[in-house]
Amino acid sequence: MAIDPKLLTELAERRARAKAGGGEDKLEARRKKGVMTARDRLDALFNQGTFVEWGMHARHDCHNFGMENKELACDGVISGVGTVDGRVVAAFSQDFTVSGGSLGAVHAQKIASLMEHALKIGCPVVGINDSGGARIQEGDHSLAGYSKVFYHNVLLSGVLPQIAIIAGPCAGGAAYSPALMDFIIMVKGSANMFICGPEVIQAVTGQKCTMGDIGSTHVHATVSGNIHFVADNDAHAMQIARKLLSYLPSNNVLDPPHHPVAQLDLTPDPGMNELVPATPKDPFNILHVIQRLVDDGDYLEVQRDWARNIVICFARIQGMVVGIIANQPAVKAGTLDIDASDKAARFIRFCNVFNIPIVNLVDVPGFLPGVQQERGGIIRHGAKMLFAYASATVPKVTVILRKAYGGAYIAMCNKEMGADYVYAWPTAEIAVMGAEGAVRILFRREIAAAADPKAKEAELVAEYRRKFCTPYEAAEKVMITDVIEPAETRAAVAAALRHSLTKRETRPPKKHGTIPL
Ligand code: HXC
Repeated sequence: MAIDPKLLTELAERRARAKAGGGEDKLEARRKKGVMTARDRLDALFNQGTFVEWGMHARHDCHNFGMENKELACDGVISGVGTVDGRVVAAFSQDFTVSGGSLGAVHAQKIASLMEHALKIGCPVVGINDSGGARIQEGDHSLAGYSKVFYHNVLLSGVLPQIAIIAGPCAGGAAYSPALMDFIIMVKGSANMFICGPEVIQAVTGQKCTMGDIGSTHVHATVSGNIHFVADNDAHAMQIARKLLSYLPSNNVLDPPHHPVAQLDLTPDPGMNELVPATPKDPFNILHVIQRLVDDGDYLEVQRDWARNIVICFARIQGMVVGIIANQPAVKAGTLDIDASDKAARFIRFCNVFNIPIVNLVDVPGFLPGVQQERGGIIRHGAKMLFAYASATVPKVTVILRKAYGGAYIAMCNKEMGADYVYAWPTAEIAVMGAEGAVRILFRREIAAAADPKAKEAELVAEYRRKFCTPYEAAEKVMITDVIEPAETRAAVAAALRHSLTKRETRPPKKHGTIPL
């Protein structure tokens, strides 16, 4: 008794209609424009042939306004589970060819169910956004749908890594699902993201602007800091997502994918001794240090073009995954300001919640002085860094390269803030403030009264620096683990990481702290 062939025909026809999206002509038009279809994107994300689709036969409520008998393939979103580099990942991809990828009740239900399943099996979620927003015909059902998606974003937060890709329009409240996820990758040219568009802004405020001014990839990468990675096109976005996933554990109870080496290589790297300029005030590029520190010079920089005075990136050091937070002396002298504090604090918290050890590279003259900074709340923003470091229980390794002054030194995670290892180069200056500033405050009268005030000041500065700005002063008080040659940094950090992989630190039970947001 074989199955009735009519049933198989019906199934095949339904599948074909679902896969046709908004029609072959619309799909082809996108490909011609160099924009991938929703299914092409999933194919590019997953290992070939591993994607298993769910909810292909989903259908919106036929009583919706103006939608009677209108068939919307997959209800505008393709969802399912597959593997990336052999590890399970859940993903959804909105199909703009189907009613503009707009989100209605069933569309939202598909996304929320996928997230619930991801939570049970403990795998990351990737959301590919390309949508005209709330499906207008479904009225408040689509608002309820968005709420359901946001609720699940928050439920998953800190349990599973969540990555959003903005591949098309992302308008109004719809931008909040990506904003609630951990990382946003945005495609140059075809994507935009905003809460109130140019027409609304002009109508309400009279201010004229373009989409480029408020919602472009460039603006979000350099000014608003809303996104983490810029992709040149769809294929590049999927590549970035895959690379990012290669550093992340599948969930918060697993370690990240370390590739431990059988035996650490502890040989020095003399090239590291060449990197820091002899004069303390000369800028240098911290990326050169990072490149020498990490395996194969390979790292993934996050928010590269925003708050460039601090660098955050993922990398491996002798096979161990790390999150690196480094002052960038080449930009604003590496000072900490509002944006740098926000950028670092969020990254520290991400690393902590996903068991990724943290490496800090310190060359910081202080918080950025300025009226705007004070009025903008640098106290509150800087406090986020203090809070994030002090509450992080993952291994924390700090290397002080040059300046480590005042509150900014603490904000970059010194021993008393919970660093497990603090190494200082002989060039390190650990002090309440720079020698010039300290001498001016302490010896103003003596300098003024001297026969040659300039010479007197220089003499006092040299003396202060000798006495108070050396790493040995801190080493004597056991505020640092050791003073090392720059050449020994890679070996010291690798050993510190290797020895701390079993670190366990418990804190008093609580719902959560009250981080100054
Ligand atoms: C229903 C929609 C739609 C929507 C687009 N479409 N957006 N259908 N609900 N929100 C449909 C169009 O009717 C059209 O259908 C098809 O998708 C393609 O749209 P076009 O306008 O032809 O495409 P394009 O010219 O590329 O413009 C894209 C767009 C524009 C800029 C996104 O469609 C647009 O402005 N849409 C409305 C955006 C919006 O205001 N959304 C609501 C935001 S409020 P046919 O059948 O002709 O192919 C919101 C609240 C969320 O999202 C709150 C969450 C808390």
